[in-house]
Amino acid sequence: MSDLKFGLTETEAETKELFKKIDKTNIPEHVAIIMDGNGRWAKEQGQDRLFGHFHGVESVRAAVEGCGELQVGYLTLYAFSTENWERPETEVNGLMELLVETIRKESESLNKNNVKMHVIGDRSMLSAFVNSELDYSLNLTRDNTGLNLILALSYSGKAEIIHAIKNIAESVKNNELAIEDINDAVIKANLYTNKFPDPELMIRTSGEQRISNFLLYQLAYSELYFTEVRWPDFRKKNLFEAILDYQNRERRFGKTSAQITSS
Ligand code: FPP
Repeated sequence: MSDLKFGLTETEAETKELFKKIDKTNIPEHVAIIMDGNGRWAKEQGQDRLFGHFHGVESVRAAVEGCGELQVGYLTLYAFSTENWERPETEVNGLMELLVETIRKESESLNKNNVKMHVIGDRSMLSAFVNSELDYSLNLTRDNTGLNLILALSYSGKAEIIHAIKNIAESVKNNELAIEDINDAVIKANLYTNKFPDPELMIRTSGEQRISNFLLYQLAYSELYFTEVRWPDFRKKNLFEAILDYQNRERRFGKTSAQITSS
């Protein structure tokens, strides 16, 4: 009997089928997402941009749930870039309000689901109010051991690298570190993401094929997946499609295909 007869919608049945096809022994440990296309989605509906952001929250929920089901270890969401501060004041304020409202509404359920929240970015640019809401959620979920949900907020990959370089230069100046000892591990230890593995998979929605200042150092060997789907339309089905696509790729890290196969 088909799933449709069991009362599942066509999308639910499709999502279930995709889930079954995923190789559970080859799940990316870290998935990063550029949630793009909210503004265009809203415009297509004859609405203002905030309407798109508002609907994007449902997609955030779907991505978190989907990653939880697949036991992804880390999910990083690009929620607000340092460049986004240049947007019209009403949009910036609207996004901040939405963020606070969402965190307030979802914190308890994230906590119940064993999700641990993290924030990366320049928090000094965020208002005291936004910071205190974030602290509440970070504190509440700090002992959880399930999915690590990392919000990139007021985030810039270039600023993160500059911050790391300054820290390293300071250590060299104070004779705590020799120049010859600067390596990949030292740089990683000085990034905001020092507690997290690099993403194996980076998804960007809405058809744009750019990195847009997101995790510039960490994405060096990530598989990039671009989909035409606008962020407010993104559902578990789309996440599972991206993971299946990832599982069909050969990750060579600069080696040859034969080397990878033999190892
Ligand atoms: C990019 O679309 C999206 C953003 C800058 C904001 C993303 C924010 C949310 C989905 C809201 C809530 C998030 C959390 C984590 C609670 P765009 O506005 O650049 O779209 P466009 O390219 O079509 O203009």
